[in-house]
Amino acid sequence: MQRFLVEKTATDWRETEAFRAAVAAIAAGRLVAVPTETVYGLAADATNPSACAGIFVAKGRPSFNPLIAHVASLKEAERHGVFDERALKLARAFWPGPLTLVVPKRADSPVCDLATAGLATIALRVPASKIMRDLAEACGSPIAAPSANRSGRISATTADAVVEDLGGSLDVVIDAGATPVGVESTIVGLAGDKPRLLRPGGIAREDIEAVLGQPLLEAEGSDTAPTAPGMLTSHYAPTARIRLAAGDVRPGEALLAFGLPLPAGAHQAVAIENLSERADTTEAAIRLFAALRRLDASGAATIAVMPVPMGGLGEAINDRLKRAAAPRDRSFQA
Ligand code: TXA
Ligand code: MG
Repeated sequence: MQRFLVEKTATDWRETEAFRAAVAAIAAGRLVAVPTETVYGLAADATNPSACAGIFVAKGRPSFNPLIAHVASLKEAERHGVFDERALKLARAFWPGPLTLVVPKRADSPVCDLATAGLATIALRVPASKIMRDLAEACGSPIAAPSANRSGRISATTADAVVEDLGGSLDVVIDAGATPVGVESTIVGLAGDKPRLLRPGGIAREDIEAVLGQPLLEAEGSDTAPTAPGMLTSHYAPTARIRLAAGDVRPGEALLAFGLPLPAGAHQAVAIENLSERADTTEAAIRLFAALRRLDASGAATIAVMPVPMGGLGEAINDRLKRAAAPRDRSFQA
C-alpha cells in the first residue's frame, strides 16, 4: 500500500506521484482510498466488474447494495443517467457537492451491473472534492466509491480511519486530512413520479425542497428490499451500545454531547465528546464519526447520546445515530 499526503485544494496535484499512482491503480482495477468532501471513498473503476467486486469483498458488503458513481461534471453524468427537469434543477443547484441523484440508468452506460446491483437506476454524484473529480476525469470512467469503511462500521472521515478498517485491501491511500462535511451525501431518488429522500446527508432536506418546489417523500422499502438498499437498520455500528436521547450519564458510560449544559452525571463519564458546544448541526456533522470512533475506543460499554434537533443536518445525524443504536443481527449485518 502506498500512502500520499495531498493538499485538498492543491491546484498542481495532477503533476504529482500521488495522482499518477492513483490513476494507475484504478486503471489496473485496484482499490484506492480517495477523500471526498463528505467522507473517504473506497474507489474503483465503475465500468470494471472485477474491480467493483473487489469493493464488495473489501467492505464485506452484501452485493445487492449498489454503489454511487462519481463523475467530473453534469455533462458526464448525463452519459450514464437520464436527467429530467427535476434532476437538472437539483444538479445545477447542488453540484459539485454532497448530493447524489438516483435516476434511470441509460442503456448504453458502460457502468457495470455489479456497481448498480443490477438495478435499472444509477446513483450519480459530482463531488465538490476536486481530487475525486480529477481522478474520474483522468480515468475516463465514473468512479464507484462507497464510504471507505468495512460494511456496518462508521464511515471514515480521516485517512487513518480508512487504513485501520481497510488497509490490507488498498493499493493507494490519498490522505487529504479530515473531510470537511463529515456525513455522507444526501441521496434523492428521482426514478419515480415523486422525488424521495433516500438518505438524509450533507445537504439539508429543506434546501432541496426549496429548489424542487415540492416536498420530498420518504424512502420506500424495508431493510432487505433493494428499493432502498444500503439503508440497513444496523449500520454505522460502534462496538459500544448506544443509548439515545440520554438525559443523564450513568456509571460506566461515555457521553456524546450536543450543546451545553451537559446532562447530570457527565462529570463521571468515561469519556466525553461534544459534537458542537454551540449546538450547530453543521459543526456536529463534521465531528460525528470521529467522535463516535473515539468514544468507542474509550472502552465504555455504552455511549449515552444527548438529543440532537432535526433541523439542518440534524436529520442526517439522527439517522446515523439511530442506525448506530439499532440492535445488531450478525446474520444480517451489512
Ligand atoms: O458521501 C457519499 O455519498 C460517500 C462518498 C464516498 O461519496 N459515498 C457513500 O457511498 O456513502 P455508500 O456506498 O456508503 O452509500 C451509497 C448509498 C447506499 O445506501 C446505496 O444503497 C445507495 O447509495 N444507492 C446506490 N445506488 C442506488 C440506486 N440505484 N438506488 C437506490 N439507492 C442506491
Ligand atoms: Mg456507507
